[in-house]
Amino acid sequence: DLAADLAGRHVVVSAGGTREPLDPVRFLGNRSSGLQGYALARTALARGARVTLVAANVTLPAPAGAEIVPVGTAEELRKAVIEAAGSADAVVMAAAVADFRPAVRRPSKIKKSESAGPDPVELVRNPDILAELGERRRPGQVIVGFAAETDDVLANGRAKLARKGCDLLVVNQVGEDLAFGRPDNAAVVLAADGEPTEIPRGPKEALADVVWDLVITRF
Ligand code: C5P
Repeated sequence: DLAADLAGRHVVVSAGGTREPLDPVRFLGNRSSGLQGYALARTALARGARVTLVAANVTLPAPAGAEIVPVGTAEELRKAVIEAAGSADAVVMAAAVADFRPAVRRPSKIKKSESAGPDPVELVRNPDILAELGERRRPGQVIVGFAAETDDVLANGRAKLARKGCDLLVVNQVGEDLAFGRPDNAAVVLAADGEPTEIPRGPKEALADVVWDLVITRF
């Protein structure tokens, strides 16, 4: 797509997966590679946007021209995204954000000898960044979430779209066939203001371009 239909627009994309430290050497994390978020950043750049890419633990090559903000934890990602969203026309939350973090980050390595039996790790809830973006939305700003669902994809997706107050929710059906780490993806995009859009399995860039098409019609 050679159309510079995002020229003059600032977009924020979060990518990758957050890691919540337990101690200096261990963390709670997830398998998100950052491939979909980076595809969103590359396609937005190709269409003329200024792109802030908030990258949580991603090892992929940086898209040329993007402003990369590297982050580790959900709280760091929250700070970076909320700050960048202040001037953004669109925010796309493709990152897998940990819903919980260890209640304390232990200053030294947890030892086996500290407990006889199973030692439950106490967890506390992380803030929901997407819901916060929905609440703080500037007039005309478009907010996009991603969701992985295993069952009742449409019903669960619709409920999530409403709960988070976003404009678009890109819902992946996940099962044995995870989207994580794969170059391709398939999804249905739910819209707060209209009909769902089915995106057949294809490269993550193709999905990204459809997401930008849907964002642009909502500016
Ligand atoms: O609720 P769930 O984790 O399925 O929602 C996924 C969407 O919400 C993604 O867009 C993700 O980036 C975002 N999210 C968030 N903050 C969280 C958890 C998820 O912004 N604490």
